[in-house]
Amino acid sequence: MAIALDQRVHLSQSIGMKILITGGAGFIGSAVVRHFSRDCGFGVINLDKLTYAGNLSSVGSVSNLPNYIFEHHDICDKAAVDRIFRAHTPDAVIHLAAESHVDRSIDGPAPFLETNVKGTFTLLECARSYWYSLPVSTRDKFRFLHVSTDEVYGALGAEGQFTENSQYRPNSPYAASKAAADHFARAWYHTYELPVIVTNCSNNYGPFQFPEKMIPTMILAALEGQQLPVYGDGKNIRDWLHVQDHAAALYCVLTKGVPGEVYNIGGEAERQNIEVVESICEVLDSLIPRGSFASYRDLIHFVPDRPGHDYRYSVSCDKLKNELGWTPSRSFEEGLSQTISWYLENRHWWQSIQKRYDGRRRGLGQ
Ligand code: NAD
Ligand code: TYD
Repeated sequence: MAIALDQRVHLSQSIGMKILITGGAGFIGSAVVRHFSRDCGFGVINLDKLTYAGNLSSVGSVSNLPNYIFEHHDICDKAAVDRIFRAHTPDAVIHLAAESHVDRSIDGPAPFLETNVKGTFTLLECARSYWYSLPVSTRDKFRFLHVSTDEVYGALGAEGQFTENSQYRPNSPYAASKAAADHFARAWYHTYELPVIVTNCSNNYGPFQFPEKMIPTMILAALEGQQLPVYGDGKNIRDWLHVQDHAAALYCVLTKGVPGEVYNIGGEAERQNIEVVESICEVLDSLIPRGSFASYRDLIHFVPDRPGHDYRYSVSCDKLKNELGWTPSRSFEEGLSQTISWYLENRHWWQSIQKRYDGRRRGLGQ
């Protein structure tokens, strides 16, 4: 990917910056690792436990770079995290490690409490002790970028948008755990003055997404001629952002954002779930027609709804656009089409996951 002029200016100011990225073997984390190490030339330390969602092949393209290091640890392991801070002396942290799937959080919330809350707490504590140890001259430049979700704000009706001032009303165990983590991050800024910035982003899509989330679930089921499981009536709305645009937004927030501030990130692409599934079918119909005049749409199947299913998310990212100058770089239709092509061209990536992932319906709370 070419580096935008705006980014080159910042890069020249930031040469030598080392970033500790947690969850860098996951979907968004791997895009952030690739962006910061390959496209921006930063030093990257990728700290990841490699849960079912972690996959080192997602960062295979950068794993041999001299500015990339992998640390296989749990963020809840204080001794390991303390050692990593002292061994690698990062200039910033981008914290993405989390349990991230709402359906899994409904069936088994405990790991969400453990990683998302206790893990974030542990990381904040280790960052604080490391940060206090820095010379005063470098302390001001340190950043702890806590990556969160718009789901902490709860669900919207037909109107309105989430802003940075929206009330926290998390509905799922996942959202509740992320909300708790956001509060810890905020408190570490206010109480200890750790230079924390929080981002709350809408639904991401793109390459390397684990096939439990809606878009890859539908693409892979369609390719295998299986039913496309649409929850409820398919009218729930999500605001979709391409993962590489999220990575670019995090670059912008890390290099230009103000400590103590919150920035919402959204794709300005609200779609009903059924519209997204129909768009996937349309792209597949043109790329690999099923034959005999059949359409992938024939595979659409409405299944029982998710308990407590949030109706609508929509994020205003006016603050990020107006204050820091970020905008999404592609339309949803463009990004979706590129994503479908990626899954078609990278079958080895998801087929190796399918060997260990059963793909069964989760989140019915049974
Ligand atoms: P993911 O599930 O794809 O990846 C999570 C990564 O964290 C994996 O590599 C996993 O191995 C690692 N991990 C989990 N527990 C860990 C632990 N205890 N210690 C160290 N590593 C651990 O998640 P994602 O979709 O890439 O989301 C990344 C972050 O972005 C999360 O914090 C999530 O809440 C947030 N977010 C996600 C979305 C989205 O649409 N996916 C939207 C907004 C915000
Ligand atoms: P998901 O990708 O799980 O993200 P989130 O729950 O964090 O928004 O789901 C996106 C939307 O798609 C959500 O409204 C639930 C719906 N969905 C389906 O209809 N079918 C599916 O198989 C999945 C996984 C999700």
